[in-house]
Amino acid sequence: MKAIGISGTPGVGKSTVAELVSKKLGIPRVDLSRVVIERRLYTEFDEVRGSYVIDEDAVRKYLRDLYSSIGPFVLDSHYAEVAPREILEIVVVIRLDPMKLIDRLVARGWPMRKIAENVEAELLSVPTLNAVEELGEELVLEIDSTGKNAEIVASEALSVIFGDLPIELGHRIDWLSQLPPERLERVLRFIETHRG
Ligand SMILES: Nc1ncnc2c1ncn2[C@@H]1O[C@H](COP(=O)(O)OP(=O)(O)OP(=O)(O)O)[C@@H](O)[C@H]1O
Ligand SMILES: [Mg+2]
Repeated sequence: MKAIGISGTPGVGKSTVAELVSKKLGIPRVDLSRVVIERRLYTEFDEVRGSYVIDEDAVRKYLRDLYSSIGPFVLDSHYAEVAPREILEIVVVIRLDPMKLIDRLVARGWPMRKIAENVEAELLSVPTLNAVEELGEELVLEIDSTGKNAEIVASEALSVIFGDLPIELGHRIDWLSQLPPERLERVLRFIETHRG
């Protein structure tokens, strides 16, 4: 087994699920955002976006070295695809109905503009597209977490990782075509109102 990436838009439940998966597999969870800050694996702080711009080469080297020294781990990150392909078993992208994501991020007290940006990313499958672009279709799977508790999502993740839950390759979650029209309309209105 190699490292397992758990990706997805902020707030979809990556850390919660990654923690459960790491416990079940008995391997550590690595919270990449935290590592980037603690080890200063960034090039600058983007004042406008309020986030660090990661030093991709430094992050890749860190993860490669970590894998060489400790072996497999669960990589908890919304940009899990920066990990070198050769150390990754798979990347599981957790998806969440954008309306539910709005509720989650509002509950966190985030600025509306930041919420709208992230909800738009979820609506448009940005984390999946980024991972597929970097790693290819075969290494990237998705799980819809909507209406499932974290335990269920974690056990589904384990099933897809170990191949006993058949998930058709190339099958992708697409909220634009899957959401009922009124619900999609509400999400689009939210984004339009707050994105600026
Ligand atoms: N399957 C779930 N059902 C309901 N609530 C959940 C589920 N998974 C996580 N949560 C809750 O949603 C919130 C966000 O979860 P979590 O911190 O794991 O997300 P994250 O993707 O790691 O976010 P970030 O990208 O900001 O680190 C938490 O309050 C968590 O308890
Ligand atoms: Mg997290």
